[in-house]
Amino acid sequence: MKRTLFITVLLFVVLACSFTQLPTAPTPFPTSTVPPSPTVTPAPPLRSLAATRGFWIGSAVSYEYLRADSTYRDLVAREFNLLTTENDLKFGPIHPELERYDFEAGDALMEFAQANDMAVRGHTLVWDWQNPSWLMEGNYSRDELINILREHIYTVVGRYRGQISAWDVVNEALDPQGNLRDTIWLRGIGPDYIALAFQWTHEADPDAKLFYNDQAAEGMNAKSDGVYELVKGLRDSGIPIDGVGLQMHVDLNAVPPPGEVAANMARLGELGLEVAITEMDVRLGPEITPETLQRQAEIYRELLSVCLRAEKCNTLVVWGATDAYSWLPELTGMPDAGVLFDLHYQPKPALEALVKTLMLTE
Ligand code: G3I
Repeated sequence: MKRTLFITVLLFVVLACSFTQLPTAPTPFPTSTVPPSPTVTPAPPLRSLAATRGFWIGSAVSYEYLRADSTYRDLVAREFNLLTTENDLKFGPIHPELERYDFEAGDALMEFAQANDMAVRGHTLVWDWQNPSWLMEGNYSRDELINILREHIYTVVGRYRGQISAWDVVNEALDPQGNLRDTIWLRGIGPDYIALAFQWTHEADPDAKLFYNDQAAEGMNAKSDGVYELVKGLRDSGIPIDGVGLQMHVDLNAVPPPGEVAANMARLGELGLEVAITEMDVRLGPEITPETLQRQAEIYRELLSVCLRAEKCNTLVVWGATDAYSWLPELTGMPDAGVLFDLHYQPKPALEALVKTLMLTE
């Protein structure tokens, strides 16, 4: 009897020890301890807040994403009352051969904008990036290049007459010192290529607003002085120009002082010109943390407030609807998060900052 009892107890002890050493299947995270996510009342769409103030809140939009990604399409249509054609109306994509234009993407963007009651900024007619090889390698004479550029502008602007409310006619023609950059247009036609481009665009669509657009000329510096003198000269010569686009591609650690941006906007306004923030993003670099996202939000808030307070600023365009399609990683070779919605199309603190700023009474 005692022997049987001893063996039974021994077996129990052995089993109990071995059982505690057996690998146990991972227990699923007990959902009961996950705090319910706070019911976040979705913010009203940016565009509804902007509309109450007669303000245009836009995003750069690319057809390649629009046609492939319904979540992107819905986000753009829901949040923005304006779109800027990011690449599809640039010289190379829309005029790939001397005798051939490709309007597929441009037409689709116009259709999307009309279907979603969005205004369109056309970007851009004259630049020295994304030009087609037939143009860059053509060694054309001045007269030939004048004819090519005039024909291009008449054709593209004429096709979208009445669908594009504002054009970035000439983009980034100046260097950091405010002098004309060495481009195919300056070399081939001479300094008056700029005036000619504005004149031809106006002839092709007298109702569109015509902008000169540039980067790193938002505050008060040599370049923004150069922009001021350039557009003042155009105005004084009777060349049709309506506004200046301040691109606002900024870095977390290099933001144009809001007071300088306000002063720059004011002096351009005194020339009778509108100003628009046309390509805003705020680079964070690889350090994407709650702190850097909060600082980014503060920068968006500050610069939108400067625009809202300025007499002649009623447009802010972010350079991309979501971090998933932002150009920044191409630029830096690193991940980044420069715009209002993250890689998963979720709102970031920057979006909430713009919502709150637009909600403030004037
Ligand atoms: O569409 C072609 C594709 O067919 C090809 O396979 C691929 C690889 O060569 O290139 C694709 O084109 C690229 C295009 O973006 C569309 O994705 C070009 O190489 C690339 O250079 C182009 O970059 C654009 C850049 O302007 C140059 O045009 C960026 O997306 C765009 O965000 C950027 O935007 C500029 C504004 O127009 C002016 N202000 C500065 C701003 C940032 O650079």
